[in-house]
Amino acid sequence: MVIALPEFTPAQESLFLTLGSRAIDSRLPRPFLGDTMSDETIATIGYRLDKFPTLNTKLIGQRSKVFDVAVRTKRLDEIVRRFVAAEPDAVVLDLGAGLDGRMFRVNPPPTVQWYDIDFPEVIAIRRQVLPQPANTHSIAADLTDPRWLQDLPADRPAIMVADGVIPFLTHDDFVSLVYRLAGHFPDGQLALNAYTTYGIWVLKHARAMRPIAGDVVNRGINDPRQPEHWITDLTLIDEILATRAPEVADMPLIGRLASRLAGRSPAVSRRMATAVLHYRF
Ligand SMILES: C[S@@+](CC[C@H](N)C(=O)[O-])C[C@H]1O[C@@H](n2cnc3c(N)ncnc32)[C@H](O)[C@@H]1O
Repeated sequence: MVIALPEFTPAQESLFLTLGSRAIDSRLPRPFLGDTMSDETIATIGYRLDKFPTLNTKLIGQRSKVFDVAVRTKRLDEIVRRFVAAEPDAVVLDLGAGLDGRMFRVNPPPTVQWYDIDFPEVIAIRRQVLPQPANTHSIAADLTDPRWLQDLPADRPAIMVADGVIPFLTHDDFVSLVYRLAGHFPDGQLALNAYTTYGIWVLKHARAMRPIAGDVVNRGINDPRQPEHWITDLTLIDEILATRAPEVADMPLIGRLASRLAGRSPAVSRRMATAVLHYRF
């Protein structure tokens, strides 16, 4: 089956960068994440990953190419898995879910209600290519529109995961979104992969990022404590630096050395590789 895609905006197209990275990772002899469903989804759609120079380049080895996305996905999955194990009546919100099958990796108890939110164009494809178990809900909406939240249960603990979506939200829209979410649920957590101001600059200006650069509007986070000042209900639980991940041991020599060196300094680490930020509210 080959699915005809609509004309995606750069923000929507970016879902193939993360999905494609996971697909390439799953083909490695010793994958970091091992999400074969991503590869199946790419094949079902018949999407050509060579649209993204960064996935196609021969200048970087496959392991280095996928390390960042695969490892951050793994850390975010672990956070969600721990949360739903402790809170089996939880609500999970995957903000800007794209075509990611996080639910199938996390495999939450059936009592958990899982919501994947993305633009209508993306959700239309999602409904065609991914299974929709009974406790899963796909919400076709712009995250900046407050209305989609109204129908969600407000009496359960919630975990929100934002994987790859922040660059496409303005600072004010991101703060308003988190503020609304933290106000809707009695308590919960937020887990995201952060982008520094330098990381945002790279997304906007690097040749390899041209397919998505046009929709990058966020200004970046340089200090994981900054969001605590924007939204007083948020408290940082942890910052997880990819340069210090156990998976660094499975990187090629140069990447391993560079990560170990950068890992000595959080500031350098944040610029060089993903930092996963984990908050409670
Ligand atoms: C880099 S992709 C990440 C997709 C998915 N989280 C993953 O990790 O594979 C960013 C996603 O955010 C979605 N997105 C960006 N801005 C959005 C908005 N305002 N409302 C809903 N979805 C949005 C895009 O459509 C895209 O699917």
